[in-house]
Amino acid sequence: MNATDPVSWSGEPAEFDDYAAEYRGGLDNPIKRLMGSSPDQFIAVKARWLLRREPELAAGGLAVLDYGCGVGSLMRVLVGLGARADFTGCDISTGMLRQVEKRWPAALGKTPRLAPQQGARTPFADGQFDIATISAVLHHVPVDERPAVYAELGRVLKPGGRLYIFEHNPRNPLVRYVIARTPIDRNAILLDPTEVRHGLLDAARYDLDTDYLMFMPPGIAVLRGVDRLLTWLPLGAQYVVTARKPGGPAGQGGR
Ligand SMILES: C[S@@+](CC[C@H](N)C(=O)[O-])C[C@H]1O[C@@H](n2cnc3c(N)ncnc32)[C@H](O)[C@@H]1O
Repeated sequence: MNATDPVSWSGEPAEFDDYAAEYRGGLDNPIKRLMGSSPDQFIAVKARWLLRREPELAAGGLAVLDYGCGVGSLMRVLVGLGARADFTGCDISTGMLRQVEKRWPAALGKTPRLAPQQGARTPFADGQFDIATISAVLHHVPVDERPAVYAELGRVLKPGGRLYIFEHNPRNPLVRYVIARTPIDRNAILLDPTEVRHGLLDAARYDLDTDYLMFMPPGIAVLRGVDRLLTWLPLGAQYVVTARKPGGPAGQGGR
């Protein structure tokens, strides 16, 4: 396994290989379809938040890893919204990684570098990335394997690098309702920001903060401003824990 010949790796098929070709970000759920008509509308809430938090993404030059990238939606939407970073995606499902290449529009330029994982481990050197994102992945990782994921994310980040963990918020009743009725989530074990923060702090001395996202249906653009006012309220459908790795130049991004 290496990061230059990624999608040809043939290990055990991953659970998510079965969903890859038809993957639509859980939009097979009718309740979720009431909130937005395309998976990208949900991803764009996270992408816009990230572009506000990391304005340097638009300038180019940052190395960004999307861990558990699935079909590459977050990277694709970020690039569509103006991000100019050097993107790499990894996933335990080679079926998902193949979809990244298939679904990447030529108009967005070169596809991200892609690499398969074996368990938590990625084929990247220590301290390689300025930013790592992990979006809607941890709830699929068995609880006893989560510490290895936190450790791996910390390992590949540069000193001063930023880790963004986006997750479904179990405190939001609608989220719990939808997850319980979505086939791809049949093995999901949701986790709250406290679990994420404790898991991260067991791995490294991060500086942490949490924002809540997606209070309003992502499909209704005029309500976006409301979401931006409520990031402190622990009831959004999503949350994001930001973890800044110690070290690196002072004043580096992430706030
Ligand atoms: C719900 S999808 C989310 C995909 C993408 N991050 C997004 O936001 O659209 C979950 C992804 O996590 C991947 N995954 C599950 N367990 C994983 C693990 N232990 N390490 C890395 N990826 C994992 C799956 O293969 C799948 O692609």
